[in-house]
Formats: sequence, structure tokens, C-alpha cells
Amino acid sequence: MATVLVTGGCGYIGGHVVHALKQAGDKVVIVDDLSYGKPDRTQGFPLVVQDVAAPEAAKVLTQVMKLYKVDAVIHFAARKQVGESVEKPIWYYQQNINGLLNVLKAMVDSGVTNKLVFSSSAATYGIPPVAVVPEDVSPMVPINPYGQTKLFGEWMGNAVAKAHGIRFVGLRYFNVAGCGPVELEDPAILNLIPMVFNNLKKGKAPAIFGNDYPTPDGTCVRDYVHVSDLADAHVAALRYLDRDDADRPYSAFNVGTGKGTSVRQIVDEVKKVTGLPFTEKIEKRRAGDPPQLICSPKRINEVMGWHAKYGVEDIVESAWKAWQANPEHHFDTEGWKQVD
Ligand SMILES: NC(=O)c1ccc[n+]([C@@H]2O[C@H](COP(=O)([O-])OP(=O)(O)OC[C@H]3O[C@@H](n4cnc5c(N)ncnc54)[C@H](O)[C@@H]3O)[C@@H](O)[C@H]2O)c1
Repeated sequence: MATVLVTGGCGYIGGHVVHALKQAGDKVVIVDDLSYGKPDRTQGFPLVVQDVAAPEAAKVLTQVMKLYKVDAVIHFAARKQVGESVEKPIWYYQQNINGLLNVLKAMVDSGVTNKLVFSSSAATYGIPPVAVVPEDVSPMVPINPYGQTKLFGEWMGNAVAKAHGIRFVGLRYFNVAGCGPVELEDPAILNLIPMVFNNLKKGKAPAIFGNDYPTPDGTCVRDYVHVSDLADAHVAALRYLDRDDADRPYSAFNVGTGKGTSVRQIVDEVKKVTGLPFTEKIEKRRAGDPPQLICSPKRINEVMGWHAKYGVEDIVESAWKAWQANPEHHFDTEGWKQVD
């Protein structure tokens, strides 16, 4: 049984990982500033309320690591909205870069833990030159400040790992969606599935941005990974970091299914799951959307033995169940009519 420090453990993915760690029999201590996360997601584990990017954070994290005799760290606490990062780059660099820097400094200063799993992202790839993306694709050019903070975060982790004997691994998530226990739902309406649900709630047609891409049905294709599968990948990553140096050849792993699903397929799945007879609206393409972005999960499959268990049906079903369980999102589907 290990004690894991989870920064951002009150958030959407962090909450699922805390849940998975509890199931795996590990102990957890959470550091979260509750700027976005919810305090009822601690699963009974201790919570330290702290902004990890603040000037005093390295000291506080050092104390937490020593006090709880932390064996490993999973660092989620970060800002994650691509559009917002374009509008507020300074804040994104300040939050995401300083946050990781403070975590790394505390690990070195405390001397109690040398294992770090870092939340990276497929945003590190920018618009990759291939549709199915392996970790060593070249070039890697993120196209927004958010993606830059994730790629630079990996560089920081690797440099500090080399200099100070830290065991570092970055997990590059593809399109995270779905929900495990309904109370761990992501309340944000930033991604395709919640955006579709939100339009339906208002009686509005869900939008498809572009149907003239060079893809089988003309709409963009992405790799959707269920958040509960992603949570298990973190447990697998912690076990990977327990291995000897020679048995840890990589410091970056994609996390996805290897299967592409188009926006239209997701919309059709929503029709099936909700039973609502809506007609979608075709809008213009959005700038910066690559036609296809599919993960090559070969490395994580072979090296960590992790495989996605859930498919798109499970993702949409679980997201819908969580949406309807949330009083802020719930709407009556009885006699539902599209008004716009
Ligand atoms: N959700 C996705 O699709 C996705 C995809 C790729 C990568 N990621 C990364 O995964 C991580 C978690 O994402 P999420 O979807 O769970 O986001 P989230 O916003 O639900 O969770 C982030 C948590 O961190 C906390 N937090 C944020 N900044 C903090 C700070 N400076 N100090 C302390 N706590 C802070 C928030 O209160 C929240 O509880 C992030 O690093 C994000 O960039 C997410």
C-alpha cells in the first residue's frame, strides 16, 4: 500500500483517480485550491487547500510530503481550457509551469518521494503530421499556450528527473469523456458531449463544426477515452514507476483507445442514448481543428499492459446518466421538442 499525493484530486480526472486508488488499496492526500474542484470528492482522504502555483507552495508541498510520508505524486492541478489559454497566456504559464515547478522542487527538497506522474495532453502534438499519433512523432508543435505548458512540463519533468534521480512519466490524454460515479461528473461545458447535452437542454440543435473534412463522413474524428479507463492508466503508471531504471524505457505514454470516432457518430450515439429526436446543425469549420486525431496506444498497451475497457457507447451512456443526475443540468425529456 502506497501513499499518493494527488494535486487537483478534487477535479474531474483527479476525482476519478482518487476513487481508483482507494479501490486499489492505496492511501491518498489531496492538494487542491478548490478553484474548480469540489471538496466532497476526497473519498475521506485528507485535503490541503493550496494553490500549487503560489510562491509559498513549494514549502507547503514539502511539508505535506514529509508529514504524510508520500511515496508518489500525481500532478493534475492545472488550468485546462485551450481558448482561455489563448486569451490569458501569462496566467496559464504562471499557473501550469509554476505549479509543476513547485511540485518538482518539493520532491527534491523533501527527499521522501521520487515518483511523479504528470497530466500531459494530446495538445502537445498540435496538428500532427499523421492521423494516428505515436509518442515519438516529429515535429511536436503545440498550437496554443495550454499545449505549450504541457510539452514544456514534460521537458521540465525529464530534466529534473535526470539531475535529481526523479522517476517521471507524462501521460498524454486524448479526448477524455464519460463518467464513473455520477458525483464525479465534469460540470464544465467545454467538450463535444456536454455541449450537445447543453444545447438539447435548451431545445436547440447541436452543432457540428464542418462536414467537409477528408474523413469517412466528413466530420472530425477523435479518440475518446473513458475517464474510468484513464484513471486505471494512472494506477498502471504508478506501478510502472516502481520498476528498475532499465525496465522503464519511456517517460511519455499516450492514453487513448486507438479507435477514431467522428463527431457525427457521437451525435448519433447521443440520439440513441437520450432517445431525443433532434436534428443537428452544420456550422463552418473551426480554426485549428485537425481532421483526425487518433492515439496510437501501442506503447502503453505493450509496456504497462493497460488497455481501454470502455467504448463510445459506454462513454455517452455514462455521461448522460451523470448529466441527468446533476440538478443543475437535468432536464425533462418527456415530450421534448426542438425549438431552434
Ligand atoms: N479533461 C481533459 O479532457 C484533459 C485532457 C488532457 C489533459 N488534461 C489535464 O488533466 C488535468 C486534470 O484535468 P481535469 O479535467 O480533471 O480538470 P479539472 O479542472 O476538473 O481539475 C483540476 C483540479 O485542479 C485544481 N486546480 C487547478 N489549478 C490549481 C492550482 N493552481 N492549485 C491547486 N489546485 C488547482 C482545481 O480546483 C481542480 O480540482 C489537468 O492538468 C488537465 O490539463 C485534461
